[in-house]
Amino acid sequence: MGDDPDLDPDPGTPALLPEFPFRPDLPIRTARLVLRPWRPRDAGDLAAFGAMFGDPGVVRYLTSEVLGPVEAAAKLADRRPELTGERDWMNLAVEVAASGEVVGDAGLAWTSDGHRQAEIGYSFAGAHHGHGYATEAASSLVDLAFTTLGAHRVCGRLDARNAASGLVLERLGMRREAHLVQNEWVKGEWTDEVVYAVLAREWAERHA
Ligand SMILES: CC(C)(COP(=O)(O)OP(=O)(O)OC[C@H]1O[C@@H](n2cnc3c(N)ncnc32)[C@H](O)[C@@H]1OP(=O)(O)O)[C@@H](O)C(=O)NCCC(=O)NCCS
Repeated sequence: MGDDPDLDPDPGTPALLPEFPFRPDLPIRTARLVLRPWRPRDAGDLAAFGAMFGDPGVVRYLTSEVLGPVEAAAKLADRRPELTGERDWMNLAVEVAASGEVVGDAGLAWTSDGHRQAEIGYSFAGAHHGHGYATEAASSLVDLAFTTLGAHRVCGRLDARNAASGLVLERLGMRREAHLVQNEWVKGEWTDEVVYAVLAREWAERHA
């Protein structure tokens, strides 16, 4: 490895690739939240998931369209609490610990074996914005990516107009690294994409 920081594994993270399928110890508990597998056959989970992804305000800057109940149930059935390999996403239901209410969906992708890259994503029901829940849930998944999966870098990607999402990533300490002009065709228009990221070393320093 020598002295080249680009070749050294990050301090405190394993140099080996994660073993797939990777299923984290669940639930993940944060100060106020519980992140646990979605339950596709549970009526409460179905209702919470359907309300979230059926809300035009929530999906405004997502690539997905507004979902009806049947489409939402199908999408929920695809939610997995584990990663099966490169380019796979795992998604967890986010509950408020005090009430048991499902308020959001938080996801983590392992995007590259060779470059040890991960990505986070999150969506919260409109009624539960403005409480810091997205930042709290996303922080636990970034931490998982670095401390358990051994990621070198974790990113977040968003529609450039999605200011609320950009603020989440800034609160996590991510750096705004790129603004890609009209690189995606979403909901009938060309859209700009912004990329934020943080390195394992930076995350460790911030949370030392
Ligand atoms: C993106 C999204 C998750 C951001 O939600 P959010 O509620 O703004 O973000 P957080 O949960 O981190 O909450 C932060 C806000 O809660 C406030 N807050 C209130 N109590 C708080 C507490 N105890 N701790 C921390 N923050 C608190 C913060 O001040 C902040 O408000 P501000 O931005 O007005 O200053 C939300 O807008 C969303 O679900 N959008 C639709 C889906 C989407 O676009 N997903 C992202 C795709 S890239």
